[in-house]
Amino acid sequence: MARPTSNYRCAQCGTASPRWSGKCADCGAWNTLEERPLPARGSLRRSGASEVAPVPLASVDPLGGRPVATGVGEVDRVLAGGLTAGSVTLIGGEPGIGKSTLVLQALASASLAAGGARTLLIAAEESAEQVRRRADRLGAPVDNCYVVETGELQVALEAAGRLDPDLLVVDSIQTIGDGSIGSQTGSTTQVRECAQALAHYAKATSTATVLVGHVTKDGALAGPRALEHLVDTVLSFEGDRHHALRFLVATKHRYGATGELGLFEMGETGLVSLDDPSALLLGDRLAGVPGTMAVPIVEGRRPLLVEMQALFTPSHTGAPRRVVQGYPASRLALILAVIERSLALPAGGADAFAAVKQRIRVTEPAADLGAA
Ligand code: TYD
Ligand code: MG
Repeated sequence: MARPTSNYRCAQCGTASPRWSGKCADCGAWNTLEERPLPARGSLRRSGASEVAPVPLASVDPLGGRPVATGVGEVDRVLAGGLTAGSVTLIGGEPGIGKSTLVLQALASASLAAGGARTLLIAAEESAEQVRRRADRLGAPVDNCYVVETGELQVALEAAGRLDPDLLVVDSIQTIGDGSIGSQTGSTTQVRECAQALAHYAKATSTATVLVGHVTKDGALAGPRALEHLVDTVLSFEGDRHHALRFLVATKHRYGATGELGLFEMGETGLVSLDDPSALLLGDRLAGVPGTMAVPIVEGRRPLLVEMQALFTPSHTGAPRRVVQGYPASRLALILAVIERSLALPAGGADAFAAVKQRIRVTEPAADLGAA
């Protein structure tokens, strides 16, 4: 098959495209695609490639490249030990959920943990003074933490090159930009190119790197979704802003298993790792109230007690309602069908509601009995 000999790039937003088109698929601008010759095949080979010799797998040190604990217990639990040198981790979450708080606590704690890591925060959203005030409020020690207040990628990379930190945090990937790219900071192109450059820096210098990214409720914002394939680990920080409970889950992790759940309580002095989350999850439970039940589930490798609530009322419309929160609607429908068939109760015609308290999302089949 013939190999394409050229590709195109939008002069406005920088998005590459394999073929010419009148309109840029990314930014929608007209007549902006410009031709760029591809490098000849031979030149794709790295110069000095002959120096890269294959090594016997048996001679590779299995203890090399092991994660280093951040010292924030729940973060280390989700990361299966901590952050690995040279790895890139993306933490996504809605604005205001507590991402900046979490990374600042992790920076401070990593600087105290094993050997005292040198840490650098690229503050692209907040001023250095704001970061310092927050650290004071959190009671976070900042002796080994450095900060650079910039929204420019080149400044950030230069600062990192000068300090050579063990841990680099960029807060956030949407507010940092590369001036040599024509498009606006925060655009898909900028976010992708900056993440790529930071990932390159992380690998080249063996720096554990964390990128903070905002996502909206539907995850649609330019950024985190587009970055998932570029990074080694994707963490999602979630919770209900009306409650203090926060969850941290890994949706992708190249250095360990996903599925562990990290739990925090957001309080006056920041995020507190919850060793015994059931106490918070069941804290104000009124035992014996009809329609409520404490249900044991397993999230990752940890057993949890959550409260499930269910309600049945006669339906006054032709189409009975099925309302769920934290529990899959399809499973509620299945359970109603089983109840109707096996217990001969007229479940199908009633409005049914099922909720898990604290908005914790339950996927475990064991919760079905509780719902029933
Ligand atoms: P923040 O970390 O700034 O969120 P993000 O970076 O995800 O946008 O935290 C946002 C909220 O957390 C803020 O509204 C106040 C609250 N908060 C506390 O309740 N306690 C604290 O100690 C801190 C630092 C923040
Ligand atoms: Mg923030």
